[in-house]
Amino acid sequence: MENRLPFKYGKLVTEDFFVNRENEIAQISSLLMSKINVTLISPRRWGKSSLFFKIAKELERKNPKIKFCFIDLFKTRNEREFYEYFASEIIKTSYSKWEERLEQAKAFFKHLIPRFSFGTDPTQDFSISLDWEEVQKDPQEILNLPEVISQQKGIHLVVCLDEFQNIAHFDDSLDFQKKLRAYWQTHQHCSYAIYGSKQHMMAEIFEKKSMPFYKFGEILFLSKIDNEHWKKYIASRFRKTGKKILPKLAASIAKTVDNHPYFVQQLANSVWTVTKETCTQTEIDLGLKNLLDQYDLIFSKELDGLSNLQLNLLKAIALGEEKLTGKATIKKYGLSSSASVIRSKEALVQKEIIDTFNQKITFLDPLFKIWFKTIYMKLT
Ligand SMILES: Nc1ncnc2c1ncn2[C@@H]1O[C@H](COP(=O)(O)OP(=O)(O)OP(=O)(O)O)[C@@H](O)[C@H]1O
Ligand SMILES: [Mg+2]
Repeated sequence: MENRLPFKYGKLVTEDFFVNRENEIAQISSLLMSKINVTLISPRRWGKSSLFFKIAKELERKNPKIKFCFIDLFKTRNEREFYEYFASEIIKTSYSKWEERLEQAKAFFKHLIPRFSFGTDPTQDFSISLDWEEVQKDPQEILNLPEVISQQKGIHLVVCLDEFQNIAHFDDSLDFQKKLRAYWQTHQHCSYAIYGSKQHMMAEIFEKKSMPFYKFGEILFLSKIDNEHWKKYIASRFRKTGKKILPKLAASIAKTVDNHPYFVQQLANSVWTVTKETCTQTEIDLGLKNLLDQYDLIFSKELDGLSNLQLNLLKAIALGEEKLTGKATIKKYGLSSSASVIRSKEALVQKEIIDTFNQKITFLDPLFKIWFKTIYMKLT
């Protein structure tokens, strides 16, 4: 029997916490192996970061020439921070010894004069700072690093840029994107995997013809994980910890939260915690109730930020109304006019409460949807 908790959420999932994604792994791996850039878009917490770590691990194991470098743009607020972080991470990934990093960095930078700093653990804490005035004049030496190193070392660097939508917040973002694109599109020996949430921002960056990253690579939209896989996973995690659950109930846990990866793991954990030996519907209900209680305050606050019209529209969506701009729906929910429905919908999308999938408007957070219907609207 295992001692650790059998479900994991809020962190990257690996090994036995990682469910399926076989098709995505095969497709993305083959694109990257052919040096085709990949862009992956999905709402928050559907499993983008975990997927790329998994792909990296598999490809690096199979092919010693491939090396993944992970760059999380969540940590960078402007162009200057980006360049320093980018250069540091590319060099850190490509060379393991600090002497080598120093020596190589000095060789690569001919115009930009780098300064180095090492922390208490020189294998981990290594960073480069650069003269911003010089970088602004020409960032070429930095942006070409992946290509130059790949070529020189005879390796294939895969540069993974996570939370990429963050660059939309940089000053002069468009200009910056143009610079990235101008250098990166000439690269032949390395490739780029770009992913992020905030679907609308990502779609804007990659799908608009007028934007620099248009047709930079293959654009993929991540889907959720099928109920069948969750059913097996949940049942096996219960079994491993000496508890029982029928496959049908395991499937129903995942279905309750629309098979959303993060929430399936979270609800399964909550149900597992209240299960002594055998899980029945009672334990599922209790596990769900505990989660709803836990989030009550946060969800209430979320509603405080909505106008009455937005709230009414949310009710109509929660009840599965499809013709939101139809006269009958407008009257029934007090939505004022079709123009105001459209405005409210836009606002709810901006606030990341709802989004459109396969032409259907849905709540992004399945737990919030349950709370909204059962606690707020008092429907059962
Ligand atoms: N393949 C998977 N198998 C099992 N659980 C998963 C899987 N992918 C994601 N999850 C669940 O979803 C959570 C979020 O995963 P991850 O951080 O990889 O998603 P993300 O899309 O990168 O999220 P964010 O948008 O917040 O960066 C994980 O902690 C885990 O609970
Ligand atoms: Mg992520």
